[in-house]
Amino acid sequence: MNITQAEFVISAVRPNQYPEDALPEFALAGRSNVGKSSLINRMINRKNLARTSSQPGKTQQLNYYRVNQMLYLVDFPGYGYARVSKTQREQFGQMIETFLGDREPLKMVLLIIDIRHPPSQDDCLMYNWLKHYGIPVTIVTTKADKISKNQWQKHIKIIKEKLEADPRDKVVLFSSETGLGRDELWQVLLNRIEE
Ligand code: GTP
Ligand code: MG
Repeated sequence: MNITQAEFVISAVRPNQYPEDALPEFALAGRSNVGKSSLINRMINRKNLARTSSQPGKTQQLNYYRVNQMLYLVDFPGYGYARVSKTQREQFGQMIETFLGDREPLKMVLLIIDIRHPPSQDDCLMYNWLKHYGIPVTIVTTKADKISKNQWQKHIKIIKEKLEADPRDKVVLFSSETGLGRDELWQVLLNRIEE
């Protein structure tokens, strides 16, 4: 995918702040610090358009990035970060539920999982929730550069089993560090738009 334009549009907290141009949207969900913002940067070939941090809990709103006047990548706050307050956590939960439950332009959620670790309980909840609402899901196992190649398939198998993933859901092996999986993931998004 050749990126001709990528821009940050808005950090939205309320539905009336979501963009109204009805371009297809792809949201990224996953634990805090799993690499959601890094994945966006890699997808659009920009070093730091989406703010990343070694400190978990950096992304706190729904951050909209418009790519090639064609689609939005929507960066979610990460879940499972213990050091945010309970109220804050509930607010995030509410915001994400409102979004996922009733967002017409949403085409798919990319569930981002660290390839090194089995999915957390929150990951499983998120996956089940997406399934329950019939939202198409692609599982992206990221940080693949952190383990050796011959471990990849074993880890992916564990992740699928723990999630009890629908065998029809695609799993994309990814690394924001090396760019592995970038072309494949773009293809998944473009195919979904053309459906
Ligand atoms: P929150 O916004 O807190 O939810 O985190 P996030 O999911 O957006 O994670 P972020 O992209 O900020 O990345 C967290 C840390 O992991 C950063 O230090 C990144 O450099 C690192 N990281 C992300 N993806 C990869 C990857 O594919 N490989 C390696 N080696 N490091 C990565
Ligand atoms: Mg982030």
